[in-house]
Amino acid sequence: MKKCKFLLTLTLLIASTATFAKVDDITLKSAESAIVYSINDAGALYLKKVTNKSTIFPMSGQLFPSQYRPLGYSGNGVRYEGALTIDGENKETVIELKYQSHTLTTERDGVELLTITLLDSSYPITVKYNTRVYKNYNVFEQWTQVINNSNNIIELPRVDAMYWQANATGGVFLEWYPSKQAGEFGKRIQEKLSYGKKSLECRDGIRHKEGPQPEMVIGFGDYPNEDSTPCMLVAFGWSGSSKFSYEINSDNQLETSISVLNHYGAPKVKVGESLDTPPVYSILSSNGKGEASRYLHRWVRSELMPAGDQIRPIDNNSWEGCFMNVNEESVTRMMKDSKELGIELYVLDDGWFADKYARNKDISGLGDWFENPKKLPNGIEALVKVANKEGLEFGLWFEPEMVNPESELAKNHPNWLMTMPNKEISLQRTQLTLDVANPEVQDFMFETIDKYLSKKPSIKFIKWDVNANINNPYSPYLGDKYQGNMLYEYMNGYYSVLERLTTKYPNVFFQTCSSGGGRSDFGALKYSHTHWISDNTAPNHRIVAQWNASIFIPAMATTAHVTHAPRNSVAFRPKYRFDISMMAQLGMEVDTRKCDTEYLNAAKTGIEAYKSVRDIVQLGDLYRHQNPFDSEIPSLNFVSQDKTRCLLLAYQTGEINGILRTSSKIDGLDPKKNYKVTEINLPEQDSHPRLDSQTAVIKSGTEWMGSGVPLVYSRQFDSAAILFTEVEKPK
Ligand code: DGJ
Repeated sequence: MKKCKFLLTLTLLIASTATFAKVDDITLKSAESAIVYSINDAGALYLKKVTNKSTIFPMSGQLFPSQYRPLGYSGNGVRYEGALTIDGENKETVIELKYQSHTLTTERDGVELLTITLLDSSYPITVKYNTRVYKNYNVFEQWTQVINNSNNIIELPRVDAMYWQANATGGVFLEWYPSKQAGEFGKRIQEKLSYGKKSLECRDGIRHKEGPQPEMVIGFGDYPNEDSTPCMLVAFGWSGSSKFSYEINSDNQLETSISVLNHYGAPKVKVGESLDTPPVYSILSSNGKGEASRYLHRWVRSELMPAGDQIRPIDNNSWEGCFMNVNEESVTRMMKDSKELGIELYVLDDGWFADKYARNKDISGLGDWFENPKKLPNGIEALVKVANKEGLEFGLWFEPEMVNPESELAKNHPNWLMTMPNKEISLQRTQLTLDVANPEVQDFMFETIDKYLSKKPSIKFIKWDVNANINNPYSPYLGDKYQGNMLYEYMNGYYSVLERLTTKYPNVFFQTCSSGGGRSDFGALKYSHTHWISDNTAPNHRIVAQWNASIFIPAMATTAHVTHAPRNSVAFRPKYRFDISMMAQLGMEVDTRKCDTEYLNAAKTGIEAYKSVRDIVQLGDLYRHQNPFDSEIPSLNFVSQDKTRCLLLAYQTGEINGILRTSSKIDGLDPKKNYKVTEINLPEQDSHPRLDSQTAVIKSGTEWMGSGVPLVYSRQFDSAAILFTEVEKPK
């Protein structure tokens, strides 16, 4: 078996000399993109050329420049920040990495790994610069490993997961998404980069609830648009504090880097050990964000996230309807009602657990993961039985990394809590973070959830929440000497628990959340079936937040709940709410006992409509048209992979007087196929079709894409869901 694998592996081992003999350029290619590296006469590694189709991107320059002495540069050279700094035995900080060798390995069909090995000219460290290419998707995954070959512990004040330079003369334009309590995840910032340094830092510790999301789009020559600007989409595979930085220097050269933000100190690497940065995923496009998103979504579904080929169920979550006021009777009632609506999964959120320090408010009980006997006298098992009898799956909320000081867990295991020696503790939502760097804590987290997942009848869904930052940054397990490693050890511990659980329970779906949202990172996505991106469920927020998420995250991985927010507003009719949630993984978050008949009927219609098209949304390709930031008639469409079906979702967000006749673009259809259009999700009481009745119902893909789809709106916050189905053209 081993031999066979060896034969399949194409390994090119080039040069391994101390003299840095001349090496040919090294090229890594995907179906449509290529990255070319070169080694200069002094042995320094350069990014030489980056292309997608016939577009040459202005990215090039040294990959590990020294901060002090540009290698091979005499005179007054520009001082780069560089991607790596070390602190060795004699406080060595000057890095002068020289090429040693490289390997290009075919790991499996369509996936190649390039590893370029570099040695410092004087200090015994080895750096492995790794880039994996997923050829069919044009996705590159990149990370750096630093190996300590010295006889002393070294520190790494800086080690970037991604670093590159580009000539900024033609203009470099950045698009990013702030979070601020997740409510602002719906903002899109676009700016032209200029001289000086810009640093986007998230300092939450273990999530991105405040500050920038760990993703960016770079437009070359113009602001990134959907279908023409050459651009690059970049996502950091890391859920912890992060730093994205940009600096255009006096040579008009841009330095861009992505790294773990280690404000707790520099991580140490013991003798003979190594440190790997988290991965960064990137994709280039000659034709704007649209094409890049489509490739990225396909890659995420097939290569990154679990069960990317499986349809996500329609859930109803107890939180916004009931908060912590849940019990066996009410949950049983709501499950039965949910079934009537067509819901497939009921998720019991916060409030179901703890006894001595009962979980009735967020001030106590967190960490005591057993059923509250007053609320659930017959345990979760009784609820799972009811759910299964009704034909529903059952899901349960946990917040495994956190603890209230008022809990049995905190009182029994004070050494598991992150608190700073000699400092007062700082609470957020009355809670503390567990010391997840500690393997005992990791085992506790695993066993907590394992205990419930191993029961029969079984739970099929876990919501994993995180409602506080690292506010008391000290790991008692790591002790004084290794606090700089805390974030790495914490995050690796978090991922390892998720990995153990998802491996042991491949049929259980996991939803990762980070308190009110702001969760949209490729680190957590590797182990999640969906993200909860924002607690703000008002439709005017959802449309922009879901839009932003859709640049990187496939629709199936963004849960979109229909609720009564904001405050039972009637400005947003149920149809509009459902049409907005249809652009992702639709679900609800309502107490069915508080919904009126009109709402319940509209929910039935909306859920039925979504079921009829969700395979197109969740497994198809997305085409975004006018966006909700610049337009009052935003729209988007999904096309099934075989192009036989397509769903157009179009919205009217602005104020209008009377009737508005407009049209939406449609894209991605097969030009030669004929499609019939029908309108879906029209509640019974709604007698006003949005599809203009004067339009021909059957046309070819070419005709539809040329003419667009004529729509009629009659109010603000109106919307249309139009289904295209392939048909034979009538003779
Ligand atoms: C924050 C989440 O975003 C909500 O959906 C809910 O799960 C609460 N936490 C529960 O405390």
